[in-house]
Amino acid sequence: MLILGIESSCDETAASVVRDGREIISSVISTQIEEHKKYGGVVPEIASRRHCENILVVTKQALDEAEITLDDVDAIAVTYAPGLIGALLVGVNFAKGLAMASGKPLVPVHHIAGHIATNYLTFPELEPPYLCLVASGGHSHIIEVLSYTKFRVVGRTRDDAAGECFDKCARAMGFPYPGGVHIDKAAQTGDPTEFKLPHPTVAGNEFDFSFSGLKTSVINLVHNSEQKGIELNFNNLAASVQSTISELLTDRTIKAAKALGYKRIALAGGVSANTGVRAALSQACEKNGFEFYMPNKSLCGDNAAMIACQGYYNFLSGITADESLNAVATLSMEEI
Ligand code: KG4
Ligand code: ZN
Repeated sequence: MLILGIESSCDETAASVVRDGREIISSVISTQIEEHKKYGGVVPEIASRRHCENILVVTKQALDEAEITLDDVDAIAVTYAPGLIGALLVGVNFAKGLAMASGKPLVPVHHIAGHIATNYLTFPELEPPYLCLVASGGHSHIIEVLSYTKFRVVGRTRDDAAGECFDKCARAMGFPYPGGVHIDKAAQTGDPTEFKLPHPTVAGNEFDFSFSGLKTSVINLVHNSEQKGIELNFNNLAASVQSTISELLTDRTIKAAKALGYKRIALAGGVSANTGVRAALSQACEKNGFEFYMPNKSLCGDNAAMIACQGYYNFLSGITADESLNAVATLSMEEI
């Protein structure tokens, strides 16, 4: 079965063709990062306009590279939530038009479920149930993947997402947007022991995260040093930020796995590209005798192959939409 996936929830316009939920036939991503970099973050209106310009070109290219036409596709999957509303609306309306014109089924996909599905594209043998840590620019969740289409969120961030914390700390150090990858690079030659950063815990749920205190302490440290004319070693600070975020994510995930009896753990979301997070969770899983899965680096960021993959499983479960499908900016995974 061939699924055409479409993704436009943030600053990547993407389309992909995936066979039977597991085999990527084509995957095209048009990123807007260079344009948003000038403003230090994603400008929603610019993102919507670029999606509008790019979506047809990107989709045509995905079909061409797969050497198929729309006739050969079995269903059209699209990200409808969560994300920037104006950006989501472009993908949703485009997919609705394609579905109406071609008579193909329309399949709505939750963006976070898409990130989780990157592990199915990387590990053909992986099947639910398992526990998944999803860390991206907008979300940090520990999720029970009960089946391909049923999820239970057991831990979440109370404030900033891990990716946002990476990006804001990076901005304080003068790195361009999105800064996570620059922290990753700088940390490679840094000493994580020079700076002792806070490891905040939150009351009420031992699997929840809080990253805003860490972010604020790094911003204050950089600004105070600038005012006093003290030069900080940013490689060491980047290494401390990365190891602190990695420890926080790993600690809560292992705690949740032990408490809920999971022996298989997966990682997903943009932050899953981070060298420190990958190593910390992988080592903790090995120490505890858990199986560990993480996506190929090429699938960590936003893409449409993950939407086509999750779309396949949604379609098999009978999850389809009609022409009344709307985009939703904020939607818990448990409401899908
Ligand atoms: O999943 P994603 O592409 O978009 C959202 O759905 O939010 O995640 C983007 C986030 C950004 O915050 C970006 O800085 C972060 O993932 N990221 C990284 C790395 N690569 C991307 N953070 C740390 N280290 C990386 N190598
Ligand atoms: Zn994402």
